[in-house]
Amino acid sequence: MSYTNMQSLSEQGVTLLTGLFCPGILTRLKNSAGTLGFPAISYAVPLNALEAAGIVSIAELLALLEIDGLTDLLSAALPGPVQCDLQHSWLRKRFAPQNAPRLYQPNTWHQDGGLGASFTPDPASVPPMNRLLTCWIPLQDCGRDSPGLELIREPLDGLLHYTELDDLRLRQSFAPDRFWAPELELGDGLLFLPGTLHRTHVRPEMEQDRLSLEYRFFPV
Ligand SMILES: [Fe+2]
Repeated sequence: MSYTNMQSLSEQGVTLLTGLFCPGILTRLKNSAGTLGFPAISYAVPLNALEAAGIVSIAELLALLEIDGLTDLLSAALPGPVQCDLQHSWLRKRFAPQNAPRLYQPNTWHQDGGLGASFTPDPASVPPMNRLLTCWIPLQDCGRDSPGLELIREPLDGLLHYTELDDLRLRQSFAPDRFWAPELELGDGLLFLPGTLHRTHVRPEMEQDRLSLEYRFFPV
């Protein structure tokens, strides 16, 4: 964890956490999740359900977050003390195009701060943003042979109306160099703010499916 992480989080709304997460736990989790029956359409399971499913213990899930400086970074970003809520955290599967089940859709552009927000059809009326942080950790290398994330590096301090979230419109609103689809290696993660726009990054030539963890932190 470094000053650079704090700086990019505040200036760009996202920071890359390089090689911070225990590859042993991540690989074990990836292997055991192979037996998990993901619900169709969402292909996501809340992390607090994984222990009862015999996939991984709550203690191991929380141990992944025991990293020097992470708590300080989270507290500075929100700001104030934060707590991980495993009920609103997810193990997610995203498919390579050739493997995608019928009705599956990759995530489209959204802001995690829209969690629980209730929109009206009026674009001028936008609900307040939920204050939370997302720490996204793939269980494998991703972004080249398997789906990753694409983000817009802009620290937005409020929600956009859902009518503003189509790809063409966003590319007209933000400069091309703001769009970022990083290739991550096992052990890397991304930390981003509630207003940061992101979606699944998938290309036709990708052949591997991807599993990832998505921890959510809320003010205490
Ligand atoms: Fe998200």
